[in-house]
Amino acid sequence: MSQPIFSLQGMVLLITGGGSGIGRATAKAMAASGAKVALTELPGRGRLAEEVVAEIAQGGGEALALSMDVRDTLTIDNVVDQVIEHFGRLDVLVNNAGTQILKPALELEEHEFDEVMAVNLKGAFMCAQAAGRFMVEEGRGCIINVASQHGVVGNKLRAAYCASKGGLVNLTRALAVEWAKYGIRVNAVSPTFVSNESNQQIFDSLEFQEDLQRNLPLGRGAHPEEIAVGIVYLASASANMVTGHNLIIDGGWTAR
Ligand SMILES: NC(=O)c1ccc[n+]([C@@H]2O[C@H](COP(=O)([O-])OP(=O)(O)OC[C@H]3O[C@@H](n4cnc5c(N)ncnc54)[C@H](O)[C@@H]3O)[C@@H](O)[C@H]2O)c1
Repeated sequence: MSQPIFSLQGMVLLITGGGSGIGRATAKAMAASGAKVALTELPGRGRLAEEVVAEIAQGGGEALALSMDVRDTLTIDNVVDQVIEHFGRLDVLVNNAGTQILKPALELEEHEFDEVMAVNLKGAFMCAQAAGRFMVEEGRGCIINVASQHGVVGNKLRAAYCASKGGLVNLTRALAVEWAKYGIRVNAVSPTFVSNESNQQIFDSLEFQEDLQRNLPLGRGAHPEEIAVGIVYLASASANMVTGHNLIIDGGWTAR
């Protein structure tokens, strides 16, 4: 019998930054679609990852919490090894970990620029490389990079963020082209403004809401779950012909 569309039954997922926001919603959505989930959190945020593991277990799924800072590139291979040792396979990597520093470009310090690039671009590449080594051996795999609408358009106060996410969108294409022959698909998802635990206060402010109503065609920001479904689709066999794509989930922000 064929599986329902978007089923991830039997797949093993590794997601970085899975303890909050989009990562948390994605870990849970993928588990609900049948995947076994390994999620990483920064040292010091392990409690959040453990909460997600418990929620997935309550729903009858299987999950594993791991600690990782993607700037600490020497630890990345070890995390991938732990996933394979625990679950016996690795089918999907979601590079979700990300950070941003909002500052006028003239005031942005070198170490701040480096920090954003280290997490959003280099970290994603190093994770893709570590997972990719295993996936190449297996002759199959799927990598999904969480980029941003700010990877395809510019915006003030976000020079490093826009550069890192623009780089991530084109890194996605480069890896897709290079690794297609190994049966590895590489795609990106580019969200608009998404409410999460740390930006909720700004998000709920009248000023921000009015700004979204004026400037975002659908008139509101996205919920993490609305990004997670795009990631589930790209991971599923329903997207077997999709690679090198940037799925923009932005309520029309970049269409203007
Ligand atoms: N929230 C938005 O408006 C929005 C819009 C577009 C894209 N994004 C992207 O979505 C992704 C998730 O963001 P979110 O909105 O869920 O925010 P979030 O702050 O809830 O999630 C970010 C995650 O990345 C992790 N992280 C940060 N630095 C890390 C590091 N050095 N090593 C490992 N993990 C690290 C955090 O611990 C957290 O789990 C990010 O890549 C972000 O750039 C967010």
